[in-house]
Amino acid sequence: MGDIRQNDPGGREQDSPKPRLDVAIVGGGIIGIITALGFLHRGMHVVIYERAAKFQEIGAAIAFTGVARECMQRLNPRVLEVLGQVGQKSPQERVRYWDGFHPRTKQSAEQEESSLLFDVPERDLAFWACLRSHFLGRMADQLPKGTIQFGKQLVNYTDADGSNKVVLRFADGRTAAADVVIGCDGIHSVTRKLLLGKEHLASNPSYTHKTVFRALVPFPGAIAALGADKASDYCLHLGPDAHMISFPVNNGAMYSIFLANHDPQQWPDPYTMTATSTRQEVSSALQSWGPHVAEIIGLLPEKLIKYGVFDMADNPAPTYASGRVCVAGDAAHASSPFHGAGACMGVEDSLVLAELLEHVQSLPASSRPRSLVAALQAFSAVRIERSQWLVQSSRDMGDIYEWRYPDTGEDGAKCKAEFEWRARKIWDFDVDAMVAESKKEYEKLAASTVY
Ligand SMILES: Cc1cc2nc3c(=O)[nH]c(=O)nc-3n(C[C@H](O)[C@H](O)[C@H](O)COP(=O)(O)OP(=O)(O)OC[C@H]3O[C@@H](n4cnc5c(N)ncnc54)[C@H](O)[C@@H]3O)c2cc1C
Ligand SMILES: *[C@@H]1O[C@H](CO)[C@@H](O)[C@H](O)[C@H]1NC(C)=O
Repeated sequence: MGDIRQNDPGGREQDSPKPRLDVAIVGGGIIGIITALGFLHRGMHVVIYERAAKFQEIGAAIAFTGVARECMQRLNPRVLEVLGQVGQKSPQERVRYWDGFHPRTKQSAEQEESSLLFDVPERDLAFWACLRSHFLGRMADQLPKGTIQFGKQLVNYTDADGSNKVVLRFADGRTAAADVVIGCDGIHSVTRKLLLGKEHLASNPSYTHKTVFRALVPFPGAIAALGADKASDYCLHLGPDAHMISFPVNNGAMYSIFLANHDPQQWPDPYTMTATSTRQEVSSALQSWGPHVAEIIGLLPEKLIKYGVFDMADNPAPTYASGRVCVAGDAAHASSPFHGAGACMGVEDSLVLAELLEHVQSLPASSRPRSLVAALQAFSAVRIERSQWLVQSSRDMGDIYEWRYPDTGEDGAKCKAEFEWRARKIWDFDVDAMVAESKKEYEKLAASTVY
């Protein structure tokens, strides 16, 4: 069987009492790379197999919570350092949630306050936002040469009883072997399909019946549409069947618009999650909205890309692990973006895996295959409830913002209450307790697993 440690310079393995754990990570997205950095920090040997020929530059922004930053620090302090360099804390003091629908005319500042549904102090949210491509590129710079192999699309793996390695098979016909496989291959994860079976309902994500439009427009236009006060904050406009999130970026050079719209139709092809659209389509969908949102829509470019939002809420995976293979990040629990915390869940996954596999690495090599099975089962047991809750809650938030959620309707106070308890659950999370629980779960499983 091919040993990917053969290229290791210096033969350090012979000198060290325990050989390094050999890990294959499938997918070099944000979670694959963060996981790799956490494992490398703990002395493991890591290869990332990425389907694409090179990193794809996606110009989208992404934000991380305080909990995710705490996990990054513990995974590998370099990850948080890099985020600190490419990211910026939101400069606004509060996030305001406006009624974007009812006011029929532009109002004076005092009248304007009546369409404020609620606000939240930004310090409670404490997001650090960055461009996804910047963060990914800078993290990849931290990887030792050769860690990431491009053009490697996983098509199958074999995790045979009695074999001391899992064998991965790629579309180019080549194979590779590793002690353990972490599938970070995103929403359409092949690892998940192989792990659960192609026919399993959770092998495919489902359409959330929401479409999203994104654009950057010149800031002066936003001031003309919303007024200087409103345009200077991070703000949400809520209303029937749609919502808009908008804020100034690049120190007020540009204004970022994220517009989500309910879609009762089916989405034609789940593998093509984008479609071409026009400003006209957006303005006719929101034609009865108030003047602020209407004028913002007027700033959009004439041709737009429409994103179909998919997630795993309808068919959550019954487990994240089988044998010596598991899934993490979007591969395990792809979420809609309405909590802005999908990747944060993946970062929590990475920390649990890093801590458990570090422990397995400290054990005698002969006991590894069975210890790995217990470690991955413990990971799945500890992560499944919280990460799947997020997927469902994110869907609910989309409906709350779009006045489709029966318990809250158009009631600002009720919307705020729903938002707050959900946000608290994401932000006030005890990372130490999660790690401790995963170790306890591992000990329990390791003691009881019979082979
Ligand atoms: C509009 C939008 C806004 C968002 N905003 C936020 C936010 O503000 N905060 C937040 O926390 N989250 C946010 N998210 C969620 C976040 O983007 C995802 O959770 C995150 O990118 C998932 O990372 P990942 O590494 O798990 O998967 P991906 O980023 O999808 O990476 C998967 C990688 O695997 C590779 N791959 C796929 N198949 C194979 C294969 N067979 N073999 C080898 N490689 C393969 C792919 O090429 C890709 O590089 C948002 C999502 C959307 C859609
Ligand atoms: C994967 O390989 C196994 C043998 O290990 C085989 O039985 C199975 O059909 C293969 N699956 C796919 C999707 O190619």
